[in-house]
Amino acid sequence: MIIGYFAFVFYAKRKPIFLCYNTVKCHEEGGLISRIISGKPTVEDSPLETNLRPKRILDFIGQSKVKDNLLISIAAARKRGESLDHVLLYGPPGLGKTTLAHIVAAEMGVDIKITSGPAIERTGDLAAILTNLKKHDVLFIDEIHRLSRVVEEILYPAMEDFALDIIIGKGPGARSLRLNLPPFTLVGATTRYAMLSAPLRDRFGNVFHLDFYDAEAIKTIVQRSAQILQIKAEPDGLAEIASRARGTPRVANRLLKRVRDYAEVKAAGIITKKVAMEALSKLEVDPIGLDDLDRKVLHTIIEKFGGGPVGLETIAASISEEADTIMDVYEPYLLQLGFLERTPRGRVATPLAYEHLGLKNNKKNSAQQSLL
Ligand SMILES: Nc1ncnc2c1ncn2[C@@H]1O[C@H](COP(=O)(O)OP(=O)(O)OP(=O)(O)O)[C@@H](O)[C@H]1O
Ligand SMILES: [Mg+2]
Repeated sequence: MIIGYFAFVFYAKRKPIFLCYNTVKCHEEGGLISRIISGKPTVEDSPLETNLRPKRILDFIGQSKVKDNLLISIAAARKRGESLDHVLLYGPPGLGKTTLAHIVAAEMGVDIKITSGPAIERTGDLAAILTNLKKHDVLFIDEIHRLSRVVEEILYPAMEDFALDIIIGKGPGARSLRLNLPPFTLVGATTRYAMLSAPLRDRFGNVFHLDFYDAEAIKTIVQRSAQILQIKAEPDGLAEIASRARGTPRVANRLLKRVRDYAEVKAAGIITKKVAMEALSKLEVDPIGLDDLDRKVLHTIIEKFGGGPVGLETIAASISEEADTIMDVYEPYLLQLGFLERTPRGRVATPLAYEHLGLKNNKKNSAQQSLL
């Protein structure tokens, strides 16, 4: 326990690292979020993710449009003997951006170097990474929206002309020197497409949006993970887990692991529908994948602010959460379910949200009455 405490303190106090070869270390803030249905990675996900991460594009389930387009671009680049055009992947956490970056490198048969926006503090850091790349290598920059402006400007000529402009000396004697770089592929990942500057966005030849997975794809992902982890389960039990995984592979894998624990301790070690339902209700994940905090967001909007519109910062303050976390983790799924609407004046709870929570929608009634 003491060792565990020190390990936690050490982890929590780590400074952003410069070059990171481990996805979870790249997500220091995400690593401390412990919500079971959060798409963001937690510390416990790291060994699980390396086992379960599909290595080749054929093992990557779902997202068929993205896969088809990527396959064509990769085949064309390989045929021409060129580096693949830069790739931008965006979408909510846990949908497979990092996985796809590794797959791009594997399918191109090249090495991948991994870093993240906040880890590149100075222009020199990026220059060192770029000059160490080999021909056609993949450079993966996670959370690319968090690159500083000065660092971003170094990236423009690097992406466009495979060149690095460096200034030598200071004052009147300073001169600019252009270094050629080997052709490489930048793969950028972000949960916040809107925060990328237009010049950066425009330099990506392939831009792909990852959306929540459909029910069939998530079911297949849960089945594949159960097989890899050699978990004993009935199809109904796995289907129950899939239906509560919010269309997110990372959540699906995490729920599977927790339900397996429950089955081993409380049942005969087999995940049946009944066992899955019991375990998931103990974890407070409801039949459509909402947890306590999702419900808290909806209850706050409906009960404290008359259903909205209410600003994101106000919701965040009311439930003592960070506005960024609400925007990245809670909101995308609530929007996808149609429980929440984003309006210029703030967030509004929809009639579907009232219905799910079993609350009376007085707002709708009064609107109807005023029409009458
Ligand atoms: N299409 C898929 N098929 C099977 N498993 C998948 C798929 N996509 C993702 N996964 C699983 O989900 C986990 C999380 O995926 P990944 O780390 O690529 O998400 P991410 O989009 O990079 O998330 P973040 O925004 O937090 O960085 C992976 O370890 C992998 O096991
Ligand atoms: Mg990632």
